[in-house]
Amino acid sequence: MNTETILDRFLIKDRVCVITGGAGLLGDSHARAVIDGGGIPVLLDISTERLEEEKSRLLNDYPDQKVEIYLANITKRDELEEVCKKLVEKYGHVDILINNAANNPKVEGNSKNMGPLRFDNLPMEIWNDDIAVGLTGAFLCSQVFGKQMEKQGKGVILNISSDLGVIAPDQRIYKKEGVPDDEQSVKPVTYSVIKHGLIGLTKYLATYWAEKGIRCNAICPAGVENGQDPKFVEKLVNLVPMGRMAHKDEYQGTVLYLISDASAYMTGSTVIIDGGRTCW
Ligand SMILES: NC(=O)c1ccc[n+]([C@@H]2O[C@H](COP(=O)([O-])OP(=O)(O)OC[C@H]3O[C@@H](n4cnc5c(N)ncnc54)[C@H](O)[C@@H]3O)[C@@H](O)[C@H]2O)c1
Repeated sequence: MNTETILDRFLIKDRVCVITGGAGLLGDSHARAVIDGGGIPVLLDISTERLEEEKSRLLNDYPDQKVEIYLANITKRDELEEVCKKLVEKYGHVDILINNAANNPKVEGNSKNMGPLRFDNLPMEIWNDDIAVGLTGAFLCSQVFGKQMEKQGKGVILNISSDLGVIAPDQRIYKKEGVPDDEQSVKPVTYSVIKHGLIGLTKYLATYWAEKGIRCNAICPAGVENGQDPKFVEKLVNLVPMGRMAHKDEYQGTVLYLISDASAYMTGSTVIIDGGRTCW
């Protein structure tokens, strides 16, 4: 008799899970979801100091846990190949990839005027750099770690898109009083293009690798409460039926579901977790 319970299917015991942008705000939440499922988080980021700090935080809460950190720029294929090689040498497999890293322009609240990010004269360097991290980085990581998953005949990729991957930003919430229209802060076009693009990448990979045992899904989180200016928060939560921003741990259940066998028949899907925002 099969004694496996439904909850057992959420376990990812000893599975190696690469998390890009692992030293950031949501990287920490994803790592904790991986740890709770029994997996090994592998954090990739571009700051050794923040990686070390994040590792200490995790080990402080989970003293016997294996946590790997790698200084790696996801726009550089050779750095990703090096990480993959080291993981395979050490563990023999790479099971999960969470494409989470992005340049996150802080255009909310008290941040300084972000005039240069307006569409009309967005500098090419910003366009290129944002796309390099948010889209090309996800492409390269999927190529490098996906190839390893293909060899194994099993793997899962989860792309972190955004509510702004399915709707346009409502630029009114970033507006500041007393600032001329052509100097108002806006969420840059790169954010929309990248987050919509990740949903395309998700569907492409889901079908491309469907018969190779690799699943690929996306989540669209909405804004996480993180000490933003209360005036900005008020404007934002007015757009959210549940009337509040997300707590950073509110994506973990969905993340663990999507990276584990609990979602074994799910691929190419986009799960929106936004307090209802995109219904309006
Ligand atoms: N926080 C939110 O409210 C929110 C809402 C919706 C979607 N998201 C998405 O979730 C993801 C994580 O967001 P976050 O709030 O944790 O952002 P964050 O800025 O705290 O973390 C992003 C991390 O990516 C890293 N990074 C940047 N360039 C890199 C590169 N070239 N190589 C490797 N790492 C690199 C950064 O150093 C940073 O640690 C992002 O894709 C973001 O767009 C966040």
